[in-house]
Amino acid sequence: MKLEIVILAAGLGKRMHSALPKVLHQVAGQSMLSHVIATAKALKPQKIVVVTGHQGELVQAEAERCATGTTLCCCKQEQQRGTADAVKAALPALDSDSTVLVLYADTPLTPLTDLQQLLDALQTSQAQLMLLTCTLDDPTGYGRIVRNESGAIEGIVEQKDCSADELNIKEINSGIIALPCSVLQHYLPRIECNNAQHEYYLTDLTSLIVKDGGQVAAMTSDNFAYLRGVNSKVQLAQAERTYQQLQARKLLDEGVTLADPQRFDLRGTLEHGQDCFIDVNCVLSGHCVLGNNVTIGAGCIISDCVIDDNVVVSPYTVMEQSHLKAAVTVGPFARLRPGNTLEEKAHVGNFVELKKAHLGKGTKAGHLSYLGDSEIGAEVNIGAGTITCNYDGANKHQTIIEDDVFVGSDTQLVAPVTVRKGATIAAGTTVTKEVPAEALVLTRTRALYKTHYQRPRKEKK
Ligand code: UD1
Ligand code: CA
Repeated sequence: MKLEIVILAAGLGKRMHSALPKVLHQVAGQSMLSHVIATAKALKPQKIVVVTGHQGELVQAEAERCATGTTLCCCKQEQQRGTADAVKAALPALDSDSTVLVLYADTPLTPLTDLQQLLDALQTSQAQLMLLTCTLDDPTGYGRIVRNESGAIEGIVEQKDCSADELNIKEINSGIIALPCSVLQHYLPRIECNNAQHEYYLTDLTSLIVKDGGQVAAMTSDNFAYLRGVNSKVQLAQAERTYQQLQARKLLDEGVTLADPQRFDLRGTLEHGQDCFIDVNCVLSGHCVLGNNVTIGAGCIISDCVIDDNVVVSPYTVMEQSHLKAAVTVGPFARLRPGNTLEEKAHVGNFVELKKAHLGKGTKAGHLSYLGDSEIGAEVNIGAGTITCNYDGANKHQTIIEDDVFVGSDTQLVAPVTVRKGATIAAGTTVTKEVPAEALVLTRTRALYKTHYQRPRKEKK
């Protein structure tokens, strides 16, 4: 079977009340379009055709970003005159002898297994068109599947065109269909727009085929939660939760402990070892890797980090693009900007900011520091309030601190500067040039003490 997949992504998305095209709104940090393209790619089609329209350049750029590795063709639907008109825009890009699967870019969680079953069902049936349908207690808003007394499908009626009886039909159209391209080519030009919305409905293929004595069949899915179309922010939020719960469930099944699967957000991918614990309200994005026995405290925001065995990340730590090696401890309230490596057992405490910093084994920065563009050796103690002055207003400079250095509290290290092995920097020192190994450096003005000093006071009225 030669499979070509059409993804409809031209709609305006009026009900989103947004300047952004509907299909570029995100679920789990990725556009709805990208989710659908990823699912389409998994079916290994000969070609993916994305129909763009409203803000087509933006949608096309996203399609191109996501479709790497597959043949992609973007077709522009000049005016959004309905789903049939949208597929018509894709026709020139399709081969007559292919099987066509039509997906909607506003249905981001479309399950792959349903699509595989739909295509299998088309292969093994006599039908010219295979629909993917669901049976719902509340079918409001969806096209209804109309069947005759013997159960054969006769047509699809949109909500706005339904008679009172038809509104009671519980079987709905997911919108997803599979059919031979030749059937599309034959019937698409015959679809008219005499309906409530004056649109060209793709769903009218059904009645046209049946009128010609052809056959339309359906595969019914019980995955409705994943086949919901997103037309509004409420539905977008529902899709987000559904997706997050799916991911949380998978992680739980794999042995990760989530304090509350309802309060866990993964906007990317997570690799993990055994016995990891993630407390409530964490947001993980990009690609994160956890080793064994990693603990992530509540409220942490982590993106693109590699966290090795036995690391403890305490609550409200924000970190990106950093590597924490075994038994490192960070937080609470630590901020790791991109480019840090913390060697084994290093510790970064509250209100410490790191950027492009390398902390050696066992090195500690417990409180209130900024360490940027820094190469710090092993077993170094960074006192509270230590600041690397890495920026001179024009350029960034390196601070190098060798092993076993003691940096007293409230030290400023004016980069570029090097502190040699075993040196001691007294509290309150401004270091502007190299400190030799094993030396003590201190810049401190002698303190003046006045006894019985009268502080100025406001006069009482
Ligand atoms: C459509 C179906 C309905 C089904 C529902 C499932 C039709 C007529 N109706 O209704 O039976 O129950 O989906 O979610 O097909 N689009 C274009 N160009 C257009 C119009 C739409 O590309 O001119 C795209 C949209 O971007 C969207 C998809 O097609 O991705 C569906 O369009 P939408 O207007 O949301 O259709 P529904 O009213 O939801
Ligand atoms: Ca829709």
